[in-house]
Amino acid sequence: MKVLVVFGTRPEAIKMAPLVQMLRDDNYFDCRVAVTAQHREMLDQVLKLFGIRPHHDLDIMRAGQTLFDITGRALKGLQPVLEAEKPDLVLVHGDTATTFVAALAAYYLQIPVGHVEAGLRTGNRYSPFPEEMNRRLAGALAQWHFAPTAGARDNLLREGVEPKSIFVTGNTVIDALLTTVRPGYRFDLSLLNNLDFNRHRVLLVTTHRRENLGHPMRDIYLALRDILAAHPAVRVIFPVHKNPAVVRVVQEVLGDSNRVHLLEPLDYEPFANLMSRCYLVLTDSGGIQEEAPSLGKPVLVLRDTTERPEAVDAGTVRLVGTGRDAVREEVSRLLADTAYYNSMAEAINPYGDGRACERIIMAIKSAYGQ
Ligand code: UD1
Ligand code: UDP
Repeated sequence: MKVLVVFGTRPEAIKMAPLVQMLRDDNYFDCRVAVTAQHREMLDQVLKLFGIRPHHDLDIMRAGQTLFDITGRALKGLQPVLEAEKPDLVLVHGDTATTFVAALAAYYLQIPVGHVEAGLRTGNRYSPFPEEMNRRLAGALAQWHFAPTAGARDNLLREGVEPKSIFVTGNTVIDALLTTVRPGYRFDLSLLNNLDFNRHRVLLVTTHRRENLGHPMRDIYLALRDILAAHPAVRVIFPVHKNPAVVRVVQEVLGDSNRVHLLEPLDYEPFANLMSRCYLVLTDSGGIQEEAPSLGKPVLVLRDTTERPEAVDAGTVRLVGTGRDAVREEVSRLLADTAYYNSMAEAINPYGDGRACERIIMAIKSAYGQ
């Protein structure tokens, strides 16, 4: 069975990499990989780490690209790839522009689509933007839905998706994480090796969401300045997303702060190991919300909505939004109140047990009569 796996950004690559590896190792499959390269450096970091050499690379990324740019270039670029490969199944992941467009391109050629990480919803079409709609549209185009949790399956059932086409598998992000975090891990960066994670309170920060660009991001960074001024033990490690609109504001607000370490995006291996050692995570990322709870790290989500309610319900993730006061107050409380911190630092695994890829492969085989 020929399976074409299509992805384009860092998080898709991290979450599809263990599946590609498993498909490659299984004689039942002829696994091909196409990347749109909606991300470039941040995608290549992951491809290198997991040893994936794509068969097709559309290389579409441009600085400051718009949604129209990505959508147009990816759709045009995927047509000849799909026509040449003629796969039996196209696998897409999650909620990016690449995800939606790859599903659409496959649909135009009447090739079945399997949607990995299907069924997550906020119910708000503009938050996260445009991811909520990308995921819904990919779901509408897909024939098979690999839902990470029972909650995601229920969302799909409520929308009338055929029950037999939904498989609850766990999230492949946990498969990737479990092979990456190690107790004795040494960083390449001496800054990280020399950091005293017991003495300092290390806050790991990432921001990139389109709806947070501009004022919301500025407010988050101002809150970080407030926190640094009030708490001398705090150090901020901030691997900055390569989007120029993010870099500009980060530099402007935090560039002169000597206890803030602004880094290039880290490779997945150091990033995951850093996450396992830090005190607290502040992020608007989707994937990090899934990873940190399984490492026992509290997460403050810098967004107003989340499509990942499981860890919020379990108490390890809190939605704080982007307001300067709210972010400052919540971090201050976690720094001051050990009992409160400990109540959030419970290791839980609502997103998977590291066997999601295995289940997806079994589901595909059973769907295709094996
Ligand atoms: C994209 C996804 C978002 C996902 C995020 C993960 C869409 C619409 N957005 O958002 O769902 O959460 O990736 O990070 O699909 N850039 C580089 N090098 C890179 C990557 C990005 O220079 O390796 C810069 C480029 O200037 C690019 C800009 O970042 O134009 C924005 O990239 P883009 O993919 O459009 O948006 P993200 O915010 O990364
Ligand atoms: N990540 C990484 N290096 C970094 C920051 C994040 O490897 O410097 C990983 C992180 O562990 C997670 C994924 O990238 O697996 C999340 O990507 P991102 O936040 O860009 O996208 P989202 O998950 O929000 O779509």
